[in-house]
Amino acid sequence: MNVIFLSPGFPAEMPLFVRGLAQVGAKVFGVGDQPAAALPADAREALSDYLQVRSFSDEAAVVEEVRRWLRGRSVDRVECMWERLMYLAARMRETFRLPGMSREQTAIFRDKETMKQAVEQAGLRVPRHGRARSKQEAWAALEHVGFPAIVKPIDGAGSKDTYRCNDRAEFEQALAMTQHVEELSVEEFIEGEELTYDTVCAGGRVLFESVAWYKPKPMILAQNPWISMQNIVLRDLSAELPRPGVELGHGVLRALGFDTGFTHMEWFRTASGEAVFGEIGGRPAGARLVHAMNYSCDIDLFRGWAEAACYGRLTQDTTKKYNTAMIFKRAQGEGRVREHRGLQPLLQRYGKFVASIELTPIGEPRRDWRKVVVGDGWIVVRHPDLAFTLEMSERFVNDLVVVAG
Ligand SMILES: Nc1ncnc2c1ncn2[C@@H]1O[C@H](COP(=O)(O)OP(=O)(O)OP(=O)(O)O)[C@@H](O)[C@H]1O
Ligand SMILES: [Mg+2]
Repeated sequence: MNVIFLSPGFPAEMPLFVRGLAQVGAKVFGVGDQPAAALPADAREALSDYLQVRSFSDEAAVVEEVRRWLRGRSVDRVECMWERLMYLAARMRETFRLPGMSREQTAIFRDKETMKQAVEQAGLRVPRHGRARSKQEAWAALEHVGFPAIVKPIDGAGSKDTYRCNDRAEFEQALAMTQHVEELSVEEFIEGEELTYDTVCAGGRVLFESVAWYKPKPMILAQNPWISMQNIVLRDLSAELPRPGVELGHGVLRALGFDTGFTHMEWFRTASGEAVFGEIGGRPAGARLVHAMNYSCDIDLFRGWAEAACYGRLTQDTTKKYNTAMIFKRAQGEGRVREHRGLQPLLQRYGKFVASIELTPIGEPRRDWRKVVVGDGWIVVRHPDLAFTLEMSERFVNDLVVVAG
């Protein structure tokens, strides 16, 4: 099994997927824009060969460079876990006649309007929505969407340029603030909890599934720098909270004809218990959610995905053992970290349920959470009981302060 892997060294989790492929016996040919010497050790050790391309921006040129570099070596798959290069991966598959997502299928996962249309056509609940390339189109879309509305980039990430609007004045203001965005989505704002539905699939079958609960909603988090994010992987998918999302997720995967790989869907749960589609990526969740899913079952999904992609199966025991809460801390104050306030009592009380903890060490500069998703701390706590997991998670949110300055 020979696999081309795009950008094996970046973003941060890519080397783990490369390692997973090597562990299941694949030969991995990496293609990246970093010099080989700059690759993280995990990636370097797992790669059979590496091609540094001049730039990823000219897709045709990259495909040609890769063809020359392969010199007739056969390739079975092209894998890409980074959203930005998904079209390039699709183009390479088409050129080399390999299985996996085509460019047309990729568009469904990259363009939030095309995606919502496809889900809606299957009779599933999506927010009322419209696409806008101008102010005029935005106002026209609003006619159909109504208030409260949300304005966001059609191919956005990380809640950037995303605004809730309750009336015409706020809508006008949001349009002014997003003037630099080429294409907007105007959507019905859905009140409710926000959760994920993540899978590893092979041949159209769901081999692993998981639901995580975002607390608070990512949009609130992006606008409020003092809040610590919690992301809770739920143990029991048949419970009331996740169940509608699992059903919706199955419908969405079927509607979009997803075949093999990771998927990451976001959905809303309204007060009445209805699941409303948010968005879906044909790639793994970022922000260490794959790690959190691993901790919830004591498995290695980096390897599990690789096995699914290469051989269509996932042989690890993926039974969920724990609710797993992952907390990202943001330091208070500027400059260098000088204290992990409240840490000792928390470790005394909950230490045996802490699966992992990494805080910006004392003396080091605080980080910019806009650039480093884990910010100044990453804590994973887990327990079979959800109420207790939530209690611990809240305590690490409220009682632990990474103090800088
Ligand atoms: N229709 C909606 N109703 C309520 N909240 C929404 C809606 N659309 C987006 N949001 C909020 O804005 C956030 C960002 O929107 P969205 O998930 O579509 O893009 P993104 O998060 O920027 O992309 P990515 O998840 O790939 O980083 C969501 O997580 C949610 O909190
Ligand atoms: Mg999102």
